[in-house]
Amino acid sequence: SGKRLRVLVDMDGVIADFEGGFLKKYRARYPNEPYITLEDRRGFWVSSQYGNLRSDLCEKAISIWESKDFFIELEPLPGGVQAVKEMAKMENTDVFICTSPIKHYIHCPGEKYAWIEKHLGYDFLDQIILTRDKTVVTGDSSVCSKYLTVRLIYKQPNPSWEHILFTACHNKHILPSSSHRRLLSWADDWRGILENKRL
Ligand code: TMP
Repeated sequence: SGKRLRVLVDMDGVIADFEGGFLKKYRARYPNEPYITLEDRRGFWVSSQYGNLRSDLCEKAISIWESKDFFIELEPLPGGVQAVKEMAKMENTDVFICTSPIKHYIHCPGEKYAWIEKHLGYDFLDQIILTRDKTVVTGDSSVCSKYLTVRLIYKQPNPSWEHILFTACHNKHILPSSSHRRLLSWADDWRGILENKRL
């Protein structure tokens, strides 16, 4: 019973450790510059918080993810790859990886494809959606670490899909709201959320 579900899973901060990978490479490249610990991260944009710390640090932060091998070398977040593989095997479930490439396109889009192939397998290349505007893509639920997306979805009077906020270092301080469910990690009950959507 139940309907077919389309789940959009974000990549950075949800299955790939963008924040951890960034901090490691930033500190290696700029060992004498100040940095923001993951504990002190606030807001989705790393570049904004570094820019607020000191204006030239915005550009230095950006230089990290614009570099070759940044995206392909990101570590998978605990349990994410396994959860997505399991989700994709569930009956009546279509899983897509929906991710926004940076506009410095020389490395990022190809490396995102390579990352999906490396961790989720060749067949998963059929499931990639690259878009700079996720609001044009519709699904039944979307697992994303960017809190702001919620606002975009709720612009519609009758949102047909639900945004599930995946907890990240930069959003864990945001107070929970009854209208936005959270997934604390991939050890949390993502199966329950999907089953509940199917009813
Ligand atoms: P996402 O919306 O799929 O999570 O992708 C976020 C994209 O934004 C990713 O390609 C990296 C990029 N990005 C920035 O340009 N600046 C930032 O400060 C951060 C955190 C990400």
